[in-house]
Amino acid sequence: MKSITFIGNGNMALSIAQGLKNNYKIEVVGRDLTKLDKFEKNLGVSIEKHLLNGFDIKNKTILLCVKPANVEEVGKLLNSTARVIYSVLAGTTLDKLRSNISTNAVVRTMPNLAASVQKSMTTLTGDIEFKDEAEELLGAIGSTQWLSSEKEIDIATALAGSGPAYLALMAEALADGAVKQGLKRDDAMAIMRGLFGGFGELIQDIHPALLKDGVMSPGGTTAAGYGALEDGNVRASCISAIEKAYKRATEL
Ligand SMILES: NC(=O)c1ccc[n+]([C@@H]2O[C@H](COP(=O)([O-])OP(=O)(O)OC[C@H]3O[C@@H](n4cnc5c(N)ncnc54)[C@H](OP(=O)(O)O)[C@@H]3O)[C@@H](O)[C@H]2O)c1
Repeated sequence: MKSITFIGNGNMALSIAQGLKNNYKIEVVGRDLTKLDKFEKNLGVSIEKHLLNGFDIKNKTILLCVKPANVEEVGKLLNSTARVIYSVLAGTTLDKLRSNISTNAVVRTMPNLAASVQKSMTTLTGDIEFKDEAEELLGAIGSTQWLSSEKEIDIATALAGSGPAYLALMAEALADGAVKQGLKRDDAMAIMRGLFGGFGELIQDIHPALLKDGVMSPGGTTAAGYGALEDGNVRASCISAIEKAYKRATEL
């Protein structure tokens, strides 16, 4: 069985470990043994537990799951050189990772909120020889997409990382619209959830324009509602949302 070493024992480490626990021997490195015990209990399988201070990463495959602000501090506590580091740290560049933690290779990964339900849309970039392994590891929590640059991962973060917030706005607003017309709140919320669940399946195989054409008959109800969305500049606002989020990522 292959081994994987998590550095960090928070939510993201637990989500990824849940996806890997049946196929990998899991080792977790943290700064508090009580938290490591809790991690093991939540994971439901036995793991190797180590404290960060002086931990030897020689030839290990590391999943780095601490906070972006901890990279320097954590790097100073580790000994030797890792085989590869897979980092989930938002906005932390490959250069910054390489200069703080000794490793033969590094891959940046960007999971999203749905990692906790093993349905993350995770983007990846870094040392290309680890593409297949990165896809296998992060594939344990959902879908992956390898990108060829850090610029692209920042753009993709505006789409997949921030996307849940944008879709949540649509979900809430559509349900509010139904309540405004007289639907009970509980019914509106249940129907909105069903709508998003079914749509999530359909959009996997069908182009959005064809989905729209399929439901919009001439002079019909969907066309009337769709016209209101165009009047409200929803399309332009979505394009602008990605631009603003990406620009913000480059400023941080
Ligand atoms: N959650 C998401 O949806 C999401 C999405 C994309 C990327 N990410 C990235 O995932 C990473 C982890 O997020 P998370 O949600 O798992 O956070 P979390 O639950 O707060 O876990 C953070 C981990 O970092 C450790 N840590 C904090 N300060 C430390 C320090 N000074 N030295 C050593 N370790 C330290 C914590 O240790 P203690 O337990 O001892 O405090 C904990 O194990 C972040 O970098 C974030 O950018 C998260």
